[in-house]
Amino acid sequence: MENNPIFKIFESFPRQGPGDDEHTEKAFSFIAEPPEGGGDILDVGCGKGVQTMALARLCPSCRIIATDIHQPFLDAVDEKIAAGGFSERIKTVRASMDDLPFEEESFDIIWAEGCSFIMGFENAVRYWKKFLKPGGYMMISDLFWFTESPSPEAREFFAEIDPTMATEEAGFETIRNAGFEHAGSFRLPPRVWKESFYGKVEEKLGDLMEKFKDDEVALVILEGLKKQIEIFDKYHEEYGYTYNVMRKPL
Ligand SMILES: C[S@@+](CC[C@H](N)C(=O)[O-])C[C@H]1O[C@@H](n2cnc3c(N)ncnc32)[C@H](O)[C@@H]1O
Repeated sequence: MENNPIFKIFESFPRQGPGDDEHTEKAFSFIAEPPEGGGDILDVGCGKGVQTMALARLCPSCRIIATDIHQPFLDAVDEKIAAGGFSERIKTVRASMDDLPFEEESFDIIWAEGCSFIMGFENAVRYWKKFLKPGGYMMISDLFWFTESPSPEAREFFAEIDPTMATEEAGFETIRNAGFEHAGSFRLPPRVWKESFYGKVEEKLGDLMEKFKDDEVALVILEGLKKQIEIFDKYHEEYGYTYNVMRKPL
């Protein structure tokens, strides 16, 4: 899987999905009592670690473990850790999100921006819960439908790339059924999709097409990204990223 050119393509972008520090901070503000005196945060699917660094600034006493499956992303996080002087309290661990090498109940906060779709939102909510301490918080941002009846073109597109994509309401129910208290949610504004991610993809698309011109799989991925942006331009009122903050009861 690691040989999939999608990883090489995504290395070209500053973030590996939509989001920004402002909305990481907004989601963090739903945590009623950020851990004082040194809490433990797990950042799942951290990519190149933009949100890892935001979390480090938002909770200056926290220790953070940033995990991802792709070592070059973790190498990029390690560079940021060194440059920011964070080596005492942030470390990277290569791990698959569905097979985490940690003790149960070892984290105060689990953070996952734009990656739960890889194992499915519901699976992620249920599996990651056991790694949280009682009273701990989990934040997952991911794709949800904002309507019960999406346009056929959008529905068909996402049936291929994110078959478990649910409505926001169904997501809220998943959170409650998994035994969490739902602390809050909000949607990422479409402008942030453009500024933080799709704009960067568009800037690089031509160069990437040239770079991967002999790699059929990569070209299919790049065409898919182009299509994804077209779908977003047409249908962004029907779906988007919802940030959900949930608390494991004491
Ligand atoms: C859409 S990106 C989001 C990255 C980052 N959180 C952000 O918002 O920029 C998804 C991330 O999940 C990682 N990933 C893919 N499969 C994974 C797996 N099985 N376990 C852990 N991480 C995985 C990818 O390498 C990538 O960094």
